[in-house]
Amino acid sequence: MKTGDAQAANLTSMRCGGRIAQLITAESKDELLRLLAGINEYIILGGGYNTIFSDGLMLTPVIKLGEAFEAVDADASGMLYAGAGASIASILTVCREKGLSGMEFMAGIPGTIGGAIRMNAGTNDKGIMDVVSFIDLMDASGSRRIEKAGIDYGYRHTALPSKAVITGAGLSLEISSPDDVRARVSSFIEKRRNQPRGLSSGCIFKNPEGSSAGYLIDKAGLKGSRVGGAVVSDVHANFIINEGSASTTDILKLIAIIKDEVKKQFSIELQEEVIILA
Ligand code: EPU
Repeated sequence: MKTGDAQAANLTSMRCGGRIAQLITAESKDELLRLLAGINEYIILGGGYNTIFSDGLMLTPVIKLGEAFEAVDADASGMLYAGAGASIASILTVCREKGLSGMEFMAGIPGTIGGAIRMNAGTNDKGIMDVVSFIDLMDASGSRRIEKAGIDYGYRHTALPSKAVITGAGLSLEISSPDDVRARVSSFIEKRRNQPRGLSSGCIFKNPEGSSAGYLIDKAGLKGSRVGGAVVSDVHANFIINEGSASTTDILKLIAIIKDEVKKQFSIELQEEVIILA
């Protein structure tokens, strides 16, 4: 088990936030179990692509899963098992090699499968839960497996016990060919060409039912709006870009401005997709 302090900026793709007093990396399931049995409150961090820490000192321990949780295995029937810390990219590499289809819509989405499952990450009409078959969870009482039929999920939402740590998941994929999977991965990456580069947390807001947050923010005339080093992307309005010097305070102020303006112009309350940890 590795323990130390850390800077939130080094753990998150938005690259902002304050100091984390205790960052703990669990290197095995045994270590994780001992850790969970010993602390009451904790934050589990995946790839940090959808999480923003406040600028203050974070006293709640932050747990990351080590390399032992990154394995990806697939069998000939199309069942793939991934440790929660496996990146979407590494899972797609296995899918391409073995010709397994079903995950292609996740191409270009950064982060780990554990993080993706927590929020049912995906596109506007599809989420990772569509291909999940079961999830392995751990809490202070031990490990358990939940079949998909027992999980309530929807657009950017998976209902799992908040204290449970996802340690891995089984994905149910279809047998295809490496060439077909590669071609479909490329077409999904092509579709993401309207998404900006630069430091960000991906889409900041969920799409409201029947509409698109990016479209609304754009139509509200907010592209290019800025607070300090945080700016609404000119490429896709549902992205806030940290130009390098943004604090979380800047980002939160910009989020508030966007919500106010969209509400004023369209009477729609945007809801954050990013998780902001105070
Ligand atoms: N649009 C604008 N202006 C903009 C951005 C978008 O007019 O600045 C319009 C587009 O022209 C399009 C519509 O809004 O007609 C929807 O835009 P887009 O196709 O980019 O899809 P989205 O709804 O903004 C969703 C997901 C993305 C995912 C793409 C993949 C959400 C909140 N966003 O974006 O997910 O990559 O579909 O197709 O569900 C994320 O969750 O972090 C994320 C980036």
